[in-house]
Amino acid sequence: MAKILINEKNRKGHINPEIYGHFSEHLGRCIYEGLYVGEDSDIPNVNGMRKDVVDALKEMQIPVLRWPGGCFADEYHWKDGIGPKETRKKMVNTHWGGVVEDNSFGTHEFFELCEQLGCKTYVNGNVGSGTVQEMSEWVEYMTFDGVSPMAELRRKNGHEKPWKIDYFGVGNENWGCGGSMTPEYYGNLYRRYQTYVRHYDHAAPIQKICCGANVADYFWTEGVLKTCFELPQPNNIPTGYMDGLSLHYYVHPGGWDNKGSATEFDEAVWYKTMAKALYMEELIERHGAIMDRYDPEKKIGMMVDEWGCWFDVEPGTNPGFLYQQNTMRDAVVAGVSMNIFNRHCDRVKMACIAQMVNVLQSVILTEGPKMILTPTYHVFHMYRHHQDAELVESCIDGNRMIGTGADNQVPFLNESVSVDKDGYVNVTVANLSTKEDAPVEMSFMELMPKEITAAVLKGEMHAHNTFDEPENVKEETFDAYEVKDGKVCFTAPACSVISFRVR
Ligand code: AHR
Repeated sequence: MAKILINEKNRKGHINPEIYGHFSEHLGRCIYEGLYVGEDSDIPNVNGMRKDVVDALKEMQIPVLRWPGGCFADEYHWKDGIGPKETRKKMVNTHWGGVVEDNSFGTHEFFELCEQLGCKTYVNGNVGSGTVQEMSEWVEYMTFDGVSPMAELRRKNGHEKPWKIDYFGVGNENWGCGGSMTPEYYGNLYRRYQTYVRHYDHAAPIQKICCGANVADYFWTEGVLKTCFELPQPNNIPTGYMDGLSLHYYVHPGGWDNKGSATEFDEAVWYKTMAKALYMEELIERHGAIMDRYDPEKKIGMMVDEWGCWFDVEPGTNPGFLYQQNTMRDAVVAGVSMNIFNRHCDRVKMACIAQMVNVLQSVILTEGPKMILTPTYHVFHMYRHHQDAELVESCIDGNRMIGTGADNQVPFLNESVSVDKDGYVNVTVANLSTKEDAPVEMSFMELMPKEITAAVLKGEMHAHNTFDEPENVKEETFDAYEVKDGKVCFTAPACSVISFRVR
């Protein structure tokens, strides 16, 4: 029997709600069809935004949305996406399927969407192919309330008041699709471009995010930080001119050239996927150790603003659209990843799953007017009480290793625990085994449980939802537990994610 030991008295740090963030790019059917259908669509919408999708995302409690890319961001010229829709420039989306981008979803539509979702905004600027002036004018257009050319242009386009940008990314993947730069070259560009990301509203300064590494590229992290932290620094207080440094990591079990099917895989591939998901912890620790040298007080957030499973596209779909199904394997990867982010909440301040709708590890899939929630959606919903809570100390005693071969050994169970403002202890547990149920005893330092609610997401490892069977996998109430001497005893089903709220 595994024992989850919880010291709810030992608070370890604040879990920023943005750890449960999302990413939406002009890629495949994420923006167009997935989120935005236009006001004239037969699909029910509010100002062009799909009502079913917006309602589901609100229910899931989405805290922040990143847009417009991704690789698309460093080719995006924001002025193409403002003004009357009929005169907006049409362009080729060279990165993603070579389709026509008609720019009908632009700046105004993004803020409208975030307003409907009630979430924070994360806009990603263009360093790769854009000028400093273009970036600076975009920020002025979005956030300046006074008299200026860009503020006037915004008003002329129908929006009197400025919007609030919570986060601004200065380029994306500038080591690759965002310009193939060296760390020192990008570091210097970052210093320059970010200078013109002005805080027009001093009461609500924009948090600036510097482009961080891909996977284990520690050379990039070191090179960028060294360049950004070199003198001169504002007011001689070293900040590296940044509030956040990004990290991108995708799980593809067979490697980049052999990602494998999203729905057809064997046990060995399941455990390989789990091992690769758990690798996130090492990445956070090692990039974090470099950040610690420059920023020992942990003022700069690690923003894992792209993460998730990346498999082969569904057969018969456009390879450039990155449309993939989503099974219990994705759900357990999500559960494990979000437990890791929680446990590193002292450094990880944001994480955005890629991507929100119809692309990669989505929480929602659409097909014309139909919409389904994926297993990953349910995990986000079950974990929502961690948002804004305090991480507390926890560990698992008697947690064995399981797997199919020496390389693919993973811990049977994975957990994280927080205490929220209402005094509930939130425990989330993933069972990584494909076949074996796990008997568990959960105990607290002082808490004698009086009030318990719990939910479970379970299914055979390939289980997923389809447009014909949309509720194959769904969150269910879990009441198969007993309280004995203040300890909560239950069996975590094989291949499952469970959440408890205990008071
Ligand atoms: O999410 C898909 C792509 O993955 C993004 O555009 C890019 O930033 C990353 O390589």
